[in-house]
Amino acid sequence: MTAQPSTQTRAAADSAEKPLLEVTDLQRYFPFREVQGLRMVKATVKAVDGISFTLRQGQTLGLVGESGCGKSTTSRLVTRLDEPTGGSVVFEGRDITHLKEHQLRSIRRDVQMIFQDPYSSLNPRHTIGSILSTPLKVHGLHKGKEKARVQELLELVGLNPEHINRYPSEFSGGQRQRIGIARALAVEPKLIIADEPVSALDVSIQAQVMNLLAKLRDDLDLAFIFVAHDLGVVRHFCDQVAVMYLGKIVEYGDKKKIYEAPEHPYTQALLSAAPDINVARGIAPKERIRLIGDVPSPIDPPSGCRFRTRCWKAQDICAQQEPPLATSVEDTTSVRARRDRGLHLQACHFPEVKTTLVAEVPAEPVA
Ligand SMILES: Nc1ncnc2c1ncn2[C@@H]1O[C@H](COP(=O)(O)OP(=O)(O)OP(=O)(O)O)[C@@H](O)[C@H]1O
Ligand code: SF4
Ligand SMILES: [Mg+2]
Repeated sequence: MTAQPSTQTRAAADSAEKPLLEVTDLQRYFPFREVQGLRMVKATVKAVDGISFTLRQGQTLGLVGESGCGKSTTSRLVTRLDEPTGGSVVFEGRDITHLKEHQLRSIRRDVQMIFQDPYSSLNPRHTIGSILSTPLKVHGLHKGKEKARVQELLELVGLNPEHINRYPSEFSGGQRQRIGIARALAVEPKLIIADEPVSALDVSIQAQVMNLLAKLRDDLDLAFIFVAHDLGVVRHFCDQVAVMYLGKIVEYGDKKKIYEAPEHPYTQALLSAAPDINVARGIAPKERIRLIGDVPSPIDPPSGCRFRTRCWKAQDICAQQEPPLATSVEDTTSVRARRDRGLHLQACHFPEVKTTLVAEVPAEPVA
């Protein structure tokens, strides 16, 4: 007789199948006024302009792109620290896009953020005990046992539980970031958004913090959105990667696809910018792509493809038609073959697989 899955097994399988987070056509326009000659005119910053992605429990998405492409704005919209001007954010099947603050109580617990700057994100006048017990009190967790929970959290992130009465100024940058991580974990969230959590840290400390985050992700089965400037940082941490340019996702897919067979010129340029370890190994250097020019203003982005002003492959159609985020060039075969190869989408009129940029990705971080 065939074994039947138990109700719990089916429930667990169902929750693994259902997206934890569904972001659809997300948009954030910031209106403002600027002086032009003698007149005040209305203008709009298109910080995030129609991006979509999904995340399941335990999955990790890397959000990567140059400064100003909309990574932090996206993070703030997903956590509902800011309200979208278009599109939707659905968390565990509930549309949270336009909920009022008093309706966001459970989201404030389930979705947590780790900030880039471990110095400004902790109140210097409060002890670590106070900083970590506040979210417990707000959400009525571990009542009467807050101190024991705070000490448990300090231990979880590799800090001495006896340091509970110390102030943030008595810790190093790496230790402060561990406190920020403990604060995010205090309320047992389902999703953590880490906005460049290691970029303000010393290189030697970065690997330790990355390893801690990876261990917590695995031990606690957390979903993560990990924001970074460069593709090297997220390579060993993420299952999927979304590459952003001027408020849009230009390439999105399973990690292996993005690193080993990138199709969008911008992704290829970002990968090419990573340090070349081939040279040190005496192997032929990888292909180099040098991006020319600055990122255009999000107030008046280029027509058609927003990357066209810096793209070496641009043609007339690139100025006339915006390329949709569509199926990869590899995916011309059967549905089954596509599924086996994993998710891969790109937004380019002339996509082309490049496999010559792979070898230079930095090695796995060590503690
Ligand atoms: N409150 C705001 N009002 C007006 N413009 C804003 C506001 N917040 C962000 N922007 C603009 O939106 C764009 C995206 O900003 P965002 O902070 O999301 O970029 P980012 O990718 O996180 O950049 P970085 O890597 O430098 O942190 C930028 O042009 C920024 O100036
Ligand atoms: S659509 Fe055109 S400009 Fe845009 S990335 Fe592709 S080739 Fe370059
Ligand atoms: Mg940012």
